[in-house]
Amino acid sequence: MIDVGLRRWGGVPVETWRETWGVASVEIHARIGSTNDRARELAASGAPPYSVVIADEQTSGRGRRGAAWHSSAGCGLWMSVLLPTVVDIGDLPLPLVVGVAAAEAIESVAPNVHASIKWPNDLLIGPRKVGGILCEAGSGCVVAGIGINMRVPPGGFPEKLEGRAGALEHEAGKILLRSQLCGLILGSLETMTATAEGVYASLSNFRGRDALQGNPVDTEQEGPGVARGVDDSGSLMLERADGSRVRVISGSVRLT
Ligand code: BTN
Repeated sequence: MIDVGLRRWGGVPVETWRETWGVASVEIHARIGSTNDRARELAASGAPPYSVVIADEQTSGRGRRGAAWHSSAGCGLWMSVLLPTVVDIGDLPLPLVVGVAAAEAIESVAPNVHASIKWPNDLLIGPRKVGGILCEAGSGCVVAGIGINMRVPPGGFPEKLEGRAGALEHEAGKILLRSQLCGLILGSLETMTATAEGVYASLSNFRGRDALQGNPVDTEQEGPGVARGVDDSGSLMLERADGSRVRVISGSVRLT
């Protein structure tokens, strides 16, 4: 049986965080498999939208396409939020909207950095990935999982991420509060997902943070080309060598 989490986080009662952030419920774990898995369990048992699960450490953190997400104790913000499915976001990929909320929050706590987004779900500062978004279907909701590396784990990032992964505190050059970042993300997410206007405003915000714009890329779905932004449904526009354009709807993209 799963424990119901910590009573206090950062010395503050969890109930106070719930009130401060203005969300339906907050569960905080010292250690858990994956906050997304726990959030899906909560959704299945009828938890309302804007219920939040946070962990200091994840032992089976997941990234996109089944990749492991390294979530060392105290080194990052590992959180999942139940988002309502009531807002019609058309074909717009939810990870873009969640990514914009996270990028805005990052810049609020660290105004000296520019957070860009590598379509469709990577949060970058300069060339380094500091975070990622994993949205999964839950019972009557979407579980939005957000992982942001705050500091380099003891012993460094795994070798295969060396040089590509980054940590927010390192990039910002100062110690940051996960709780503040979390509250800002939740505030932006609520604003952006409450109405269709909010969702589409986040699309234009994304266009100012598009890390691929104008760059040569190799896409899993459509092969190589130059990234030419996203259309109104959030699909990546790829310009081929002959000048024709094709929409990329999903799959991974590599800067070449
Ligand atoms: C990616 O870039 O591939 C997405 C990474 C998403 C990681 C977060 S951490 C909180 C939540 N719980 C998980 O198991 N994964 C997401």
